Amino acid sequence: MRLAGAELVERREVLPGTFLTAWHAPPVVTGARAGQYVHVRAVDPGGLPRRIPFPIATADAATGVLTLLTSGTGWAGTVRVGDRADIAGPLGRPFEVDPRSRHLLLVAEGGAIVAVRFLVDEAVRDARSVVLLFGAATASSVYPTSLLPDEVEYVVATADGSLGHRGSVADLVREYEAWADQAFAAGPPSLLATLATQAAGRRQRLGVATLGRKRGGGRPPAAGSTEARRKAFLQVAVGQSIGCAAATCLGCAVEGADGVALRACREGPVFAADELAWPEP
Ligand code: FES
Repeated sequence: MRLAGAELVERREVLPGTFLTAWHAPPVVTGARAGQYVHVRAVDPGGLPRRIPFPIATADAATGVLTLLTSGTGWAGTVRVGDRADIAGPLGRPFEVDPRSRHLLLVAEGGAIVAVRFLVDEAVRDARSVVLLFGAATASSVYPTSLLPDEVEYVVATADGSLGHRGSVADLVREYEAWADQAFAAGPPSLLATLATQAAGRRQRLGVATLGRKRGGGRPPAAGSTEARRKAFLQVAVGQSIGCAAATCLGCAVEGADGVALRACREGPVFAADELAWPEP
């Protein structure tokens, strides 16, 4: 984790009330990976100092610029190009892609797309094929295709049917589950629970072998380890609100599959789906 004095170099509205902000912060960009987040140390309009977590939407090591999606309210509504802020990061554990995975299925709903957006760039850079399934309430809140690389197959579902599939983005997953080597998701808990249930039944439905386990290959990797996550079919970025980001307040706790609390800020925000306890979707 590094702390940088960052300068806002671009700010534009990409969806109603949602702004893409680009910050020049080379020390934070160095080594940043998809799924990680930053802590912006800011002063809100009332004069109170705040530390605000944001998932990293993109990070470009060549330019030292990272982008965040912000609202237009509070501190985020006051910043203008040329303003400065202290940014700490990268924080948290990233998505882990198995080196053998060629086909990546990304699933996101609403503003949570920011949590998987950087993974699109990493996958394209590594010459993997990417399908991004995105769900929104209506066409006006669909993440713009102009913010995605051309290499991505982008499939949309809207609840009201105004664009793409009418219904939940989860409805689209079955069509791609045989194609995908791994899946990565972000969205509300109900969506993630549905996807976790789908993923748990996938191998039986498709009759596929566990990725990467060789006969006589020794013990399976420990739950929660980087290796276990890398071999998981589904990894999720949870949207738990992060406060201290120092693993002390427990405000970001999620329930693990063994009933033990896990901290999204430290053990997450990315988890293998089978690390977590899921309610019935
Ligand atoms: S945000 Fe405080 S423990 Fe995670």
